[in-house]
Amino acid sequence: MGVLENKSRARLFYKYLSKVYDRINPFVWNEEMRDEALELLDIQPDDRVLDVGSGTGFATEGLLRYTDDVHALDQSIHQMEKAFAKFGRNDRVRFYRGDAERLPFKDDSFDVLWSSGSIEYWPNPVDALEEFRRVVEPGNRVLVVGPDYPETGPFQYLADAIMLFYDEHEAQRMFEEAGFVDIEHHIQQAAPGTPRAITTVARVPDADGGDEADAGAEAEVEA
Ligand SMILES: C[S@@+](CC[C@H](N)C(=O)[O-])C[C@H]1O[C@@H](n2cnc3c(N)ncnc32)[C@H](O)[C@@H]1O
Repeated sequence: MGVLENKSRARLFYKYLSKVYDRINPFVWNEEMRDEALELLDIQPDDRVLDVGSGTGFATEGLLRYTDDVHALDQSIHQMEKAFAKFGRNDRVRFYRGDAERLPFKDDSFDVLWSSGSIEYWPNPVDALEEFRRVVEPGNRVLVVGPDYPETGPFQYLADAIMLFYDEHEAQRMFEEAGFVDIEHHIQQAAPGTPRAITTVARVPDADGGDEADAGAEAEVEA
């Protein structure tokens, strides 16, 4: 496990990174990538959206273009203070200080869940994904952006030492283990040679068990 896949270390890291985050972030995660990812989610004007690991509000700002009902959660007060400066403390966005792996919301509270650039710090990503499935309405979608696993040896060694980097195969495993269906992955990149992001969109199964019935029907056809 990487050194930053630890909640208190990640909080300490962001105490300092928050000062420069908005200036260095665009080298790996820029507006074009964010907007491309937002388009993968068909967000409607009355949708209630949760942004997990919302940080300084870079993605929150994009979500506000689609709906006024945006809720943002982060474990770092230093990152959140940068977001308060942009949106007010409880004005355009409802903020919560909390942990992605233990969300302070009732079941089925949201229509859409977004999380960009945060999964790499969570010690138990599948626990967080299970929480996402719990708080999102059945049949609806979540989107998670994380760092794609580097292709070459020295970078792989460095990546493993720092935080979670993962490929499509691992993303598929995590989302399936957390109980999602209709899982798709997109690779995004700011510029050639810069680190790639892996963006996964997945759906919470329907409440009526229709997904299991569909899967059974497909299995029958294949047999
Ligand atoms: C790279 S920033 C991403 C910020 C924003 N989502 C964006 O797209 O720019 C990662 C954020 O995840 C937060 N974070 C890390 N671990 C977390 C956890 N367990 N629960 C909630 N937030 C967490 C950090 O505090 C930080 O603000």
